[in-house]
Amino acid sequence: MRSLTTTNISPATRVNGKGRNPGAPDPAPGPSTRVLHAGVREDNGYHSLTPPIIQSAAYTFRDTDDLIAHKSEGDALARQEYGRYGNPTVRAVEERLAALEKGEDALLLSSGMAAITIPLLLLLQAGDHLIMGDDTYHRTRVFVNDFLKRYGVEATTVPSGDLDAIERAIRPNTRLILAETPTNPFLRCVDLAGLAAIARPRGVITLIDSTFATPLNQQPLSLGIDLVIHSVTKYLAGHNDLLAGTIVGGAGLIQRLRESHALFGAVIDPSTAYQINRGLQTLGLRVARQNASGMAVARFLENHPKIRRVWYPGLESHPDHAVARGQMSGFGGVVSFEIAGDGPAASRFVDALRLAHIAPSLGGVDTLVIQPAIMSYYDTPPAQRRALGISDELIRLALGVEDTQDLIADLAQALEVV
Ligand SMILES: Cc1ncc(COP(=O)(O)O)c(C=O)c1O
Repeated sequence: MRSLTTTNISPATRVNGKGRNPGAPDPAPGPSTRVLHAGVREDNGYHSLTPPIIQSAAYTFRDTDDLIAHKSEGDALARQEYGRYGNPTVRAVEERLAALEKGEDALLLSSGMAAITIPLLLLLQAGDHLIMGDDTYHRTRVFVNDFLKRYGVEATTVPSGDLDAIERAIRPNTRLILAETPTNPFLRCVDLAGLAAIARPRGVITLIDSTFATPLNQQPLSLGIDLVIHSVTKYLAGHNDLLAGTIVGGAGLIQRLRESHALFGAVIDPSTAYQINRGLQTLGLRVARQNASGMAVARFLENHPKIRRVWYPGLESHPDHAVARGQMSGFGGVVSFEIAGDGPAASRFVDALRLAHIAPSLGGVDTLVIQPAIMSYYDTPPAQRRALGISDELIRLALGVEDTQDLIADLAQALEVV
């Protein structure tokens, strides 16, 4: 069994070594090739091209000696014992995710929130201090501020992307910096190499939520970050039909996380893992379309008289454009903007859209739209919402893979009602 690394993926090496010219250098693969061949196994059972779904809660042992051999020297990743400790279908996806992010190992979990909460619960203890960006995913902030605090973990929230503020917030007991880049909904970007340069010498662990970027547009581990997480629910699975999360990083840290994961129990079902693998195969195509549509839609909106402001890291007007350009190869499919009008005008616009569904996710094949004030922030008191910059007229558009010109035509007709 062998996984291909992302640096030497040559399709010819996969087909039983056939057609391989040992003297020829492996060319650097393009994004779609990389996605399709990253972490692919050569020996699926029954010569199956796709990894089979191994739907079993328990695994059998030939005899007592076989069990003792497994317990004493077995490779827990290669030979399973019980479904909560591992599953071959899940493992195949983990290998692909690790290769995609250029990490040594990956853990696949039942949701993006599990991929955030489990490392925080494992790596932090009472008396530790954590630093977090203010534009981090709403529920992540709730977990840190309302839940971790009860267990004696202190947190400082700093403006997302402000490295000086992060450095100033570091204390002797700071153990971890949690950042998202780009953020939701303002697509703020953190300079990842700069962040690693602050954290590494002080022994502070960096954990980046890279959901909005995908492993194709940004690779935090290559820039010195310790752990990357994704809500796989979004771009990676890509079809708005399942929930999952992943943590990618060095083998030692991931092994520790794997052990606590087996304890917490937020494991993923093998059938869901199979669907993730299937979704991943088209990640390159989908993200290329979403990057292109994101850029075109952002430019269209920026030049429209009924739009007050647009946030998209690919636009020169975005406060973190320089950082984004330096570390991202594409800017993704999420565009946030304010209608030049009030909340009801924004709702009229949303209701007039024909292609975008009103739904709270992103990264999938369907275009989704929300007014954050009446979706994720509905229960947040208006004054607190405004302090976070969430106005009633703010809209977040998460582009799918429809044709770009159709998406723009839809926006244009909906803006007529504003
Ligand atoms: C940036 C980000 N991180 C994490 C999550 C949580 O992921 P999940 O919904 O898969 O638990 C979300 C969900 O919207 C998100 O947008």
